[in-house]
Amino acid sequence: MRTEPLNICVLGGTGFVGTALVSRLTQEGHWVRVPTRNRTHGEALRVLPTVELIEANIHDPGTLDRLVTDMDVVVNLVGILNEHGRSTFQVAHAALAEKLVAALKAARVRRLLQMSSLGASAQGPSRYLRSKGEAEARIHAAPHLDFTLFRPSVIFGPGDSLTNRFAGLLRLSGGLLPLARAQARFAPVYVGDVAEAFVRALGERKTCGETYELGGPEVMTLEEIVRLTARVARLPCHILRLPDALGRLQAAVLGLLPGKPLTLDNFRSLTLDSVCGVEGFARLGLTPRRMMEILPGYLPPPPLPQGLTLPST
Ligand SMILES: NC(=O)c1ccc[n+]([C@@H]2O[C@H](COP(=O)([O-])OP(=O)(O)OC[C@H]3O[C@@H](n4cnc5c(N)ncnc54)[C@H](OP(=O)(O)O)[C@@H]3O)[C@@H](O)[C@H]2O)c1
Repeated sequence: MRTEPLNICVLGGTGFVGTALVSRLTQEGHWVRVPTRNRTHGEALRVLPTVELIEANIHDPGTLDRLVTDMDVVVNLVGILNEHGRSTFQVAHAALAEKLVAALKAARVRRLLQMSSLGASAQGPSRYLRSKGEAEARIHAAPHLDFTLFRPSVIFGPGDSLTNRFAGLLRLSGGLLPLARAQARFAPVYVGDVAEAFVRALGERKTCGETYELGGPEVMTLEEIVRLTARVARLPCHILRLPDALGRLQAAVLGLLPGKPLTLDNFRSLTLDSVCGVEGFARLGLTPRRMMEILPGYLPPPPLPQGLTLPST
């Protein structure tokens, strides 16, 4: 359902999900304001006609107040998987949600779409999941808000840090991958479908006050996700399933490397399956796509050696 053009502020709009969502919102004719810590992070958005990219510190309450003033809707996608310096889970998730609730009240903006995560809970096994749970609790406690919460499983698509990362690791290692929590279960969900869920929620009043778990149609283990990635990208793949003691050790070591490929907190998040209880897409009248429908479009196999062609079928 198409809505009137709205003024929408998307926090975290420069990221993987944000770029897909902002692009989709502009297709719907909306005006979108995207604050960023650094304008270069929003390069992909600059070509979109109705996007205003603003360099701003959203953690400063006065700045946040100004950014949300005159908006019809605010979307909060800000999230981190790893802490860096002052960018802690507490700051990026819980404290930001609290500041946002106050800013929306001051600016008399009622509508908030908040990105959370499957497993978010004050009692969650990792600091990531606990801080996401705290953010949810702060929003739930705000009587002046018409909020909708989204809790996706792991998200894939062009530019993701799931399939692209595993393809990169397999390429580097010649296919040998020691994998922690290989049997952890996910319902991988396509970023385009996540964006569609947000767009659908904008047009439907009945989504106010609701929480939607977003999972793709297949439940897969981490190992199955890696094997499918390897198959599509035509990469060799030999997975070494690590028992938890070794997986924890691997996370402790990798967490010390630049870029933190895996941390102990990530490992703790993986101890919880990331699958839906009640499928949010069905509640929204949407049908999510399978990995195999999307992966070949952005994970091309390596080029064939010169002069070699595949037989046409
Ligand atoms: N990707 C997944 O598989 C997945 C699964 C479940 C839930 N989620 C949630 O979905 C949301 C979007 O994820 P994503 O994959 O799109 O993440 P992403 O690509 O890393 O993007 C994160 C966004 O948040 C902003 N940001 C990060 N740290 C910030 C900080 N300290 N202060 C202010 N802004 C900050 C970044 O903005 P600038 O750099 O422009 O300032 C960027 O636009 C997150 O809330 C994440 O937890 C993602």
